[in-house]
Amino acid sequence: MRGIAQNMLNVSGVEFSYGAKSLLSDINLTCRPGEIVGIVGPSGCGKSTLAKLTAGVLKPQNGEIHIGGAQVLDAARRQEVGFLQQGAEGLLPFLTVYANTAMPILVRKGKLLIRGLDFSDRRRCVRAMRTARIDHASRSRPEHLSGGMRARALIARALAQSPKILIMDESFSGIDEAMCEQLYIDMERFVKKLGLVCLLISHRLSEIVFLCDYVHVFERCPLGDGYTLGDPLQITLPRPRSIEMFGDPEFARFTGLLRSRIVKLGTE
Ligand SMILES: Nc1ncnc2c1ncn2[C@@H]1O[C@H](COP(=O)(O)OP(=O)(O)OP(=O)(O)O)[C@@H](O)[C@H]1O
Ligand SMILES: [Mg+2]
Repeated sequence: MRGIAQNMLNVSGVEFSYGAKSLLSDINLTCRPGEIVGIVGPSGCGKSTLAKLTAGVLKPQNGEIHIGGAQVLDAARRQEVGFLQQGAEGLLPFLTVYANTAMPILVRKGKLLIRGLDFSDRRRCVRAMRTARIDHASRSRPEHLSGGMRARALIARALAQSPKILIMDESFSGIDEAMCEQLYIDMERFVKKLGLVCLLISHRLSEIVFLCDYVHVFERCPLGDGYTLGDPLQITLPRPRSIEMFGDPEFARFTGLLRSRIVKLGTE
């Protein structure tokens, strides 16, 4: 395990079940500021459940989750998590993209209108919309956006929150491939510059390899029921990553390695 001292996110010994049958067992995960950590595994192994536990939406039956040294279940800590939940819609239909992006800041500051925000907050919203490549539609309402644009507006809203931990659960699904590639580059820059921890859950292995520093593959728990996280695979591709890397043999080697680990789990 990597040194605990500088960790921003620390998950230790987490167990979780929805009913009698154990789903997650002995989950351990550490992430340092600026790291993008991937979580992969077949459908139903508990990735979204782990995301909800990390965001403090669910409470583990055993084990602990700390952000910057404090329990994620503390209300103040939960505000430091930007959680892009799988399949969530969540944009307010009567507000523009800009107002939706600003909404978490407005709520936190008890303001009603963007006009009430100070310059740095407004700049943060604009930067978040740019990073999510939705700034051109800042005055549009959600009903006038495509599915991929709505997904990008949700990303902008999470980024504008200035989270310390960003949890992305299939957040790029529905966005076309070429746009995704641009977004990956912007996201890498954003996360590295601000020193966030990004937990990235995706079935798209090229996305995982392109973005991540480390990747954990879910595996069956050797000690009992349910699933646990395997040791991290370090993605040693140089940074910053570039579009050309998609054709790199080393890139293909990493995606192949992950695919074989996932297939192994799926057929056991
Ligand atoms: N609220 C719930 N109550 C009971 N069981 C649940 C609940 N939510 C999820 N499950 C079950 O827990 C298991 C893990 O679900 P989860 O959504 O975490 O999987 P996942 O790995 O994210 O899958 P996918 O890749 O399809 O998104 C599944 O068997 C699912 O049916
Ligand atoms: Mg899921």
